[in-house]
Amino acid sequence: MKAFLCKEFGPVESHTVEEIEDPVAGPGQIVVDIKATGISFPDVLIVQGLYQFKPPFPFSPGSEISGVVSSVGEGVTLHKEGDRVMGSIGSGGLREKGVYLEQQLMPLPDSMDFNTAAGFPLNYGTTYHAFKQRGELKEGQSVLVLGAGGGLGITAIHIAKAMGAKVIAAASSQEKIDLCKKEGADEGIIYERDMDRDLQKKFSDEIKELTGGGVDMIYDLVGGDYAEPALRAIARHGKYLVIGFTAGIPKMPLNLTLLKECQIVGVFWGQFAAVDHAENAQNFKELFELHAQGKIKPFVTETYSLEDSAKAIKTLEDRKVLGKVVVNME
Ligand SMILES: NC(=O)c1ccc[n+]([C@@H]2O[C@H](COP(=O)([O-])OP(=O)(O)OC[C@H]3O[C@@H](n4cnc5c(N)ncnc54)[C@H](OP(=O)(O)O)[C@@H]3O)[C@@H](O)[C@H]2O)c1
Repeated sequence: MKAFLCKEFGPVESHTVEEIEDPVAGPGQIVVDIKATGISFPDVLIVQGLYQFKPPFPFSPGSEISGVVSSVGEGVTLHKEGDRVMGSIGSGGLREKGVYLEQQLMPLPDSMDFNTAAGFPLNYGTTYHAFKQRGELKEGQSVLVLGAGGGLGITAIHIAKAMGAKVIAAASSQEKIDLCKKEGADEGIIYERDMDRDLQKKFSDEIKELTGGGVDMIYDLVGGDYAEPALRAIARHGKYLVIGFTAGIPKMPLNLTLLKECQIVGVFWGQFAAVDHAENAQNFKELFELHAQGKIKPFVTETYSLEDSAKAIKTLEDRKVLGKVVVNME
């Protein structure tokens, strides 16, 4: 079988597709014929040794997959040969066949195709957990999404709208804002790719203007120079959800939390899913219901072949991604 392999850390384009042995399912494991693999920002970092987790070499990046069970190991009870499955698997998705623990996979609803499913678990799982358990978002509240035009950002628009919020999308181009509005955002703010003090002040003022003085919740997957001006525009008792740092890890003046009596709230879906199984399973039950009812409409914007995996990951590294990128194995 073919696999996109990282044999040592290096630039995204230094990794290639190679022929390797088919995997065999050990006890409690399942081999999946992978149909599609979702590409996420951690893939940019993991192949360069810049991510918090460093799998042993050689490994394939790709943290979410969909496919069909081709064999099961001893003691497996949750899935059987021929089942359609999807899963968030940490890494190891950019290959034709993968071997995973049975708990890492869940049944793929009939209403969802393989491409859509490959981009679903990580992004929707994270965003739903963020708004439901961490933010406790209420109907009628305002939500600012930073980096709203990427994979996770679009899911934040979908979920916040499904929960009855007013959504302000912030992104670095008109093209991205157009996509966000098409996907349900009520308002859009274009920010610059590089922010100085004046541009940060302008960004804060625009947020305040669109929310009548301050935004109730901030969904921040970007960090960097965008975080502080966003926090300066939060409403009294607002919540700032810390999701990711594509623009770097910011340092925040803590006096801002005192002045607004607001909360800065961390979100780590991978840990939640690993520790709070039952709550995570309930979240996915609700997400699949929202999908079946047409209240969230996940979609894939770009599809690449396995051979073009590096190109797929580069679109995220180059900040060019619009929505969700998937590698399709067929
Ligand atoms: N907390 C959790 O549990 C959790 C779970 C999943 C992912 N994450 C994190 O969420 C973040 C977003 O992931 P994603 O898959 O949605 O990424 P993505 O599709 O690449 O989107 C990221 C967005 O970040 C913005 N950005 C700002 N500065 C950037 C830079 N220097 N390079 C690249 N993009 C930049 C871009 O929008 P603009 O150009 O419009 O600014 C881009 O659309 C990542 O940091 C990831 O690790 C966290």
